[in-house]
Amino acid sequence: MKTIYMDNNATTRVDPQVVEAMLPYFSEAYGNPSSVHAFGGNVGGSIKAARDQVANLINAAPEEIVFTSCGTESDSTAIRAAIASYPDRKHIVTTRVEHPAVKNLCEHLAKNGYRVTFVPVDRDGNLDLDYLFANLSDDTAIVSIMWANNETGVMFPIEEIVPAVQARGIMFHTDAVQAVGKVPVDVKKVTVDMLSLSGHKIHAPKGIGVLYVRKGTRYAPFMIGGHQEKGRRGGTENVASIVGLGKASELAAGQIQDQMPRVAKLRDRLEKELLASIPNAMVNGTTERRLPNTTSISFEYVEGESILLMMDTLGVCASSGSACTSGSLEPSHVLRAMGVPFTAAHGSIRFSLSAYNTADEVDYIVANLPPLIANLRKMSPFWNQSAAST
Ligand SMILES: Cc1ncc(COP(=O)(O)O)c(C=O)c1O
Repeated sequence: MKTIYMDNNATTRVDPQVVEAMLPYFSEAYGNPSSVHAFGGNVGGSIKAARDQVANLINAAPEEIVFTSCGTESDSTAIRAAIASYPDRKHIVTTRVEHPAVKNLCEHLAKNGYRVTFVPVDRDGNLDLDYLFANLSDDTAIVSIMWANNETGVMFPIEEIVPAVQARGIMFHTDAVQAVGKVPVDVKKVTVDMLSLSGHKIHAPKGIGVLYVRKGTRYAPFMIGGHQEKGRRGGTENVASIVGLGKASELAAGQIQDQMPRVAKLRDRLEKELLASIPNAMVNGTTERRLPNTTSISFEYVEGESILLMMDTLGVCASSGSACTSGSLEPSHVLRAMGVPFTAAHGSIRFSLSAYNTADEVDYIVANLPPLIANLRKMSPFWNQSAAST
């Protein structure tokens, strides 16, 4: 059975060109970049080239790129760097719909002496900007707001938020893990102080990330150790993955123009045809300002987990809520924050596409999902009750 992979916000396939670029660093080029000998030193040159490639993707200067182990580490480093740099400030602003990498850290800090404001969103997933701006204070150490939501794809108006936050003398970090590689992200145009990205969302391997730190930004390392990354992140570099991320960044820069419009068309057709053929289905989040690859669709009165399991038997991979929360049957915190009714939040499926998806794959899902949902609804007491009451 062929696998139809539409779970690219969870992770992506490593591009074959990325694999090829990485391979020598497991065999002939295994030196330590910190070594004095040329065997290791040459590897240092490859890291430099990768740093240039990543910097280029977001229009940063190479020295503003700090390699980390993942998006989660980048997020933690950013927030912890800000609170360490402003020890007198005890307030953090974030949103109610962040990825657990930010949300759970902020909840942890809230139990450990910090006041955290979680800015709400409306039914469409749009941020309450008035609430955000009204809650900034001289005590605020950092504002951390995601560029794009991993579950709905809704993009926040970061370009509007950043100048207002910085005008108050407050540091701004964005979790751009889902945005980078899908939409243009330019740190010269949108002057965030720090930005997180993750390799495995852009066809590089898992276990490599980046924290962009604008030149002049106050900073404190999270991983204290060797002098690597100019003392900003200790630990021998994950050379092969850094090289892979460099290659993936170079490819991603081209794909935003060349592939994402096609991906958006596939996503739009998938969404339109599913909504047309399945009653009581709705898209979660605004469709006005959204990542090109993501749709979150709720199928009322069925359990998202059941849909996923049935789709799995057909070879279709998607997600209910966020992959990180799908082990639990609680509706996702994102959909709850948006006020999606319980009956719909439970039955939400996220399809997240990539340049590898095809029109035939969309056809396959459009043909197979409606009968699957209809069958599940036959077994749903909630569906039968709702049918009886109409
Ligand atoms: C928005 C967002 N932030 C952070 C992360 C965490 O990234 P990583 O898996 O590299 O730690 C993810 C992963 O799903 C994400 O979607």
